[in-house]
Amino acid sequence: MVNRYVLAASIIVCGFSAWADNHTAGASTDSADAPVTEPEVDLSAAEKIFKKSCRACHGNKAQGAASYPNLSDLEPAYIVEMLERYRSGERIGPNSILMIQNAKKLSDQEIASLSVYVTTAFD
Ligand code: HEC
Repeated sequence: MVNRYVLAASIIVCGFSAWADNHTAGASTDSADAPVTEPEVDLSAAEKIFKKSCRACHGNKAQGAASYPNLSDLEPAYIVEMLERYRSGERIGPNSILMIQNAKKLSDQEIASLSVYVTTAFD
């Protein structure tokens, strides 16, 4: 589990540098592989947001407590989906209002970065 997340994170990071290389060199014609629309992952930005806006509820290590769900054991793609749904104002559980307020402020890039950060930083 743990290693898989670290691997996923490095694939994402390497994927972006590969993309940048390809484009600088003008070498790639394989559009299926080019993550042009993927937001870039910035783990240090995510750490700042997490410490400021998430950990008070979700815990120092995103471990969760009582009605605040654990985040560190979730799949990054699931976290992205949930944050997008909260951002759109959707009510999912009984305490969604707490998340809607927080998710509203997040950009696509911040959501992508947070999803990798909370699943890899506390292993
Ligand atoms: C005020 C407390 C609070 C803050 C701050 C907060 N959350 Fe939450 N979070 C919750 C609660 C409560 C839920 C469950 C909401 C519901 O009932 O739908 C939740 C749900 C979630 C979920 C869905 C989990 C699941 O298992 O479906 C994710 C992902 C999440 N939060 C991420 C974040 C991130 C990232 C931040 C920081 C930007 C953050 N939260 C800030 C309280 C909070």
